[in-house]
Amino acid sequence: MTVVAVCSLSGAPGVTSLATAMAAAWPSGPVTVPVLVEADASGGDVAAWHGMETASSGLVSLAAASRSPLPAGSSVTLPSPENTGTGGHHPVLRHAVELSGGLQVVAAPSDPLKAGRAVEALARHPRLLKSGRVTVVDVGRAVPGSAGAALLCHADITVVVVEAGRVDQAERLRVCAPVLASLRQDGVRVGLAITGACPYPEAEISQIAGGLPVWARIPWDLSGAALVRGEHHPPQRIRDRLAAWHAHRRDPDSLEWMPLISAAKALAELCDDFDGLGLGVGQTRTLEVRAA
Ligand SMILES: Nc1ncnc2c1ncn2[C@@H]1O[C@H](COP(=O)(O)OP(=O)(O)O)[C@@H](O)[C@H]1O
Ligand SMILES: [Mg+2]
Repeated sequence: MTVVAVCSLSGAPGVTSLATAMAAAWPSGPVTVPVLVEADASGGDVAAWHGMETASSGLVSLAAASRSPLPAGSSVTLPSPENTGTGGHHPVLRHAVELSGGLQVVAAPSDPLKAGRAVEALARHPRLLKSGRVTVVDVGRAVPGSAGAALLCHADITVVVVEAGRVDQAERLRVCAPVLASLRQDGVRVGLAITGACPYPEAEISQIAGGLPVWARIPWDLSGAALVRGEHHPPQRIRDRLAAWHAHRRDPDSLEWMPLISAAKALAELCDDFDGLGLGVGQTRTLEVRAA
């Protein structure tokens, strides 16, 4: 059972994109079904990106179910390839929708009032959040004192995303360093992911952040970001496929040539190793893209 929270402290440095790509690229095996839970109190984006409905499943239903105690005599069944659908036996999966590449997503409503209430409820009753084998939680902006920040206390691992070259974000990181340090003291592993081109050495960034390690550098990548938003379509015409091959020297159907996807995969593997789950030998779940 691993809960990985991905959050920012200010701005929009790419939290949802990184969390989605990490869940999609998480080393998975037959009983490991990574789930992305979008728990952003300011409202979700994933449903809009992928044209999903959040009325009957999603964060609101997960939060409501998490509040009620487990019925007596019921047990948590680990997922098998046969029962990983939305109707599967794994409690968190009952609130998830499967994207076309196989990623299970519990999406937040885009309405901030509804999303905020659900995040507050989940922070108070995180039972189902912790019931999954691997749950990547997009906490959005986790301002100290907010419901999102309270969710971080229930994570095993927290990734704080900061955009390179943003003095405002660097300053917010500096002033929030004591809060992040206390999270570490409570037993949560905390590290940084820097998005975009960052000219500063890791030691310097780490110093601003009160000694937090830099776990990943996430390159600016328009193709990878479009894939995560459900907008990427692999080249179909032979001429375009050849052009893609020449441009990247990679198979146009493979997705790991995209810098965002490969960096997210490396970070997911690092988090998996931290937890000593040792599941990295399994297949990697990657977002598959269907042609329009
Ligand atoms: N590594 C990246 N390269 C290019 N664009 C990105 C990257 N990460 C995010 N984006 C884009 O930036 C915008 C904000 O990203 P998002 O993941 O929604 O940020 P946040 O969740 O922090 O608000 C989106 O349009 C997204 O597609
Ligand atoms: Mg977001």
